[in-house]
Parts: sequence; structure tokens; C-alpha cells
Amino acid sequence: MDAEEVLKQVAGEVAVCTKCALHNSRKKAVPGEGPIHAEILFVGEGPGFYENEQGRPFVGAAGQFLDELLSSIHLKRSDVFITNVVKCRPPGNRDPLPDEVSTCTSSYLQRQIEAINPKMVVTLGRYSMGLFLKDAKISQVHGRMYQVDGRMVVPMFHPAAALHQPALKDSVVADFGRLPGWIAQMRREEEAKKPAPEEPTPETPAEDHDEPTQLSLF
Ligand code: URA
Ligand code: SF4
Repeated sequence: MDAEEVLKQVAGEVAVCTKCALHNSRKKAVPGEGPIHAEILFVGEGPGFYENEQGRPFVGAAGQFLDELLSSIHLKRSDVFITNVVKCRPPGNRDPLPDEVSTCTSSYLQRQIEAINPKMVVTLGRYSMGLFLKDAKISQVHGRMYQVDGRMVVPMFHPAAALHQPALKDSVVADFGRLPGWIAQMRREEEAKKPAPEEPTPETPAEDHDEPTQLSLF
């Protein structure tokens, strides 16, 4: 099955999923969206009120802030894949429970990550961070880059939390400002992995030398 088929299948399964208690109160499940082979994957916590209404990730106030953060580094929403740890809204926006997180991520997020194969994952909030960096404290690790299973992982504070706390907001803005450097590094590393293009055949063969010609500094 190719990546596009995996993502379609995940979205189809999520829409009718009853694997955890969150299905009882959801209106629309939110599988996530973005380019199939996005270089960068953003993983939030779970749908909120508006996401539950529309079935799309980050469309409320936190989403508007995320759009601003993306445009501050010259990225558009359509450049990146955006999803969540849990695909259904926890009632009253409560935190997702450990069994909801493990059921949902092992059923869906893991398959999405394998299919998209992003080179960078930006985690938004503690729950998302906890999937990649066990026992990390977000106050200590936010805005740093970690290599996890061959990908760059950059944990950030959740934009919804940052909206209400000016200090966190400044942190998220500053942390986003560090992404372009790592994105450039990621692209250089990808470029270096590509096989070198074949040398064009010279029209007249170079003369054979018995000794390799060396440049002399003198
Ligand atoms: N907060 C999240 O974590 N995810 C969304 O999709 C929206 C708000
Ligand atoms: Fe299924 Fe995930 Fe929704 Fe739970 S949160 S019902 S596991 S899609």
C-alpha cells in the first residue's frame, strides 16, 4: 500500500472509530491534513471545540496562532502536515487519558508517521512531546532539537497554552524562530544522501598521465 492509500485508510477508520471512550462525545473525528510527503509534521494534543465541529485540525484560536507562527518563518499551512495525538475531542477539552493516548497513537499516529516519513516532527504540548521524548520536561527541552529514530524532533509549548500566557507566547515565537536553521540543515542532509549525478562524458578524452597531476603551491 502506498503512502496516499495508508493516509486515506487511516482517515476512513478514524471517522468511524470506537476504539476508545472519546468516540462517545465526538462530533467529527479529526485525522489531520497536509501533503502526503511533508518534510515537517506538527503534532498537537487533540481536537478542540471548532476542530470537533469541522473535522479539521487547528481551525480555532490556537490554529490562527499556529498560522501566524508558520508565516513568521515563511511557511504556509499547506506546506506541512498537521495532526494530533488523539483524533477525537476530549469532553470539555480535558487532558487525554493514558489509555486513550496509547490506543489512538498505536492505531493511527504511528501509521501516519510511517507513511508521511517526515524528516522533522514539531511537537506541540506535553502529550505530543511525551511520545518522542520520554520523561522530558517541556520547560527544559522546548525549542531544542533532538534526533529520534532518524528524525529531528523539536518540542514546543502548545499554542493554546501560549495564547493565555505571555511568557509562553514569547517562548513559542522564539522557538519557531529557530526552526529555519534546522530546516536548512535537514535539507542539506537530504541532499547529501542523494546519489551524485553522473559526470558528463567529455567530448575529447582527457590525456592519460602516468602520474596524477598535482597542483603545487610553489
Ligand atoms: N489544539 C490541538 O491540540 N489540536 C487542535 O487540532 C486544535 C487545538
Ligand atoms: Fe478512535 Fe482515537 Fe477517536 Fe479514540 S480518539 S475513538 S482511538 S480515533
